[in-house]
Amino acid sequence: MKLWGGRFETGPSEIFERFSGSLDFDRRLLAADIRGSQAFARALERVGILSAEERARIVEAFDSILQDSASPSFYDGATDEDVHTLAIRKLKERAGAVADKIHTGRSRNEQVSLDFRLWLREECDRARGLLAGLMSALLDLAACNPAAVIPGYTHMRRAQAVLWPHYLLAYFEMLARDWERLGEARRRANVLPLGSGALAGSGFPFDREAMARDLGFEAVTRNSMDVSGDRDFALDFLYAASAAMLHLSRLAEDWILYSSEEFGWLELGDGVTSGSSLMPQKKNPDSLELIRGKSGRVIGCLTSLLVTMKGLPMTYDRDMQEDKVPVFEAADQLAGSLEMARAVVESAKLNPAKPAAAAEESWVVATDLAEALARAGTPFHQAHQIVGRLVLESVRAGRKPSDWTAEELARFAPEFKPEMAALLHPAAGMRSREVPGGTGPESVARALAEARERLAHMRV
Ligand code: ARG
Repeated sequence: MKLWGGRFETGPSEIFERFSGSLDFDRRLLAADIRGSQAFARALERVGILSAEERARIVEAFDSILQDSASPSFYDGATDEDVHTLAIRKLKERAGAVADKIHTGRSRNEQVSLDFRLWLREECDRARGLLAGLMSALLDLAACNPAAVIPGYTHMRRAQAVLWPHYLLAYFEMLARDWERLGEARRRANVLPLGSGALAGSGFPFDREAMARDLGFEAVTRNSMDVSGDRDFALDFLYAASAAMLHLSRLAEDWILYSSEEFGWLELGDGVTSGSSLMPQKKNPDSLELIRGKSGRVIGCLTSLLVTMKGLPMTYDRDMQEDKVPVFEAADQLAGSLEMARAVVESAKLNPAKPAAAAEESWVVATDLAEALARAGTPFHQAHQIVGRLVLESVRAGRKPSDWTAEELARFAPEFKPEMAALLHPAAGMRSREVPGGTGPESVARALAEARERLAHMRV
């Protein structure tokens, strides 16, 4: 069955049908398509195209089609151009001639937008739920070692000491932004396109607000031409998904390093690591590497749709059918990666002695000392110079901060007061960083409590 054909003398060639068909992938929109068509049948009743009895027959037939679609044989022999065509063919098989009325005043251009929006809305909710689960796991991990100290890095060089929970909360913040972005993507998808027709607006006086209420949309679109050519909502989702994958990828990169023999900070569970077929000793972080790898795929999906849309003339162009594969792909990879990341976080154990030693052995306390000098009246630039010389001297002599005594410090530079020697231990300097958002223990405890509180409101 075709939804068109009267104007043609011969049918489409086999090669064109094969090339242009989208049922293989857009069948994923079947439930959304049926839901949309059922609402559309109710709208057709309201404008007098369908009787109440016809509407009921259509709605019931669609219910049974949806039920049957769970069976593996549902698509057997289906050669329909797309999911919309398939749904109408099945409707005709079940409800008879009345099916010929269902597409009155409607175009597939708006129908595909509607289906995609309905589907994306749910996908945003799914991803947000998974994000919240991962954020919760990060907070649980923080609670296992609330006072652990690690060296924070810039340029992948030891920079300043921070609390392990402070580091984990940094990822919490990234994921919280992703949660918001997916909410924004959902909000943009949650606008009813139906009533737009092919591009010029439907020729039937639909109550679009009523259709929006019926399908749970927050608003109706404002311009029919825009609707026909708009995939911004899909791009918004793809950007939100890409940003989330980027964050997961950076976490993966960190933890691949932190769980290496060189670092030895983290132990990943056996359940999320794999061995080598050749080297018996190996315990490889494949789960994290795959998350990092899949982030490339998702970013590719965003790029793919951006490039597809760029340069398309107003309004709908068939190029736009290429929107679905990258969106489905990104949604699947994001959901899978979020699940995997959560399992990795739940399996991870910090060995706090290792990062603590890394912090003790290095000069992560240098800034603490310079700032203490500045607080005591030495202009910061001079304080920086004094501590810089202290580090140089120590590096030459092979001394770590804790090798210095208060007396030696005072001899090195009279600006050093005896109480400043306490700052040779990383945990001491952190206590000066109680500024909101800093790694001071009280700030971090507050941030953790606030994060729990925020998470409690992040249910979808
Ligand atoms: N299957 C098409 C898509 O996914 C929708 C159909 C519109 N086709 C058309 N020739 N106007 O974009």
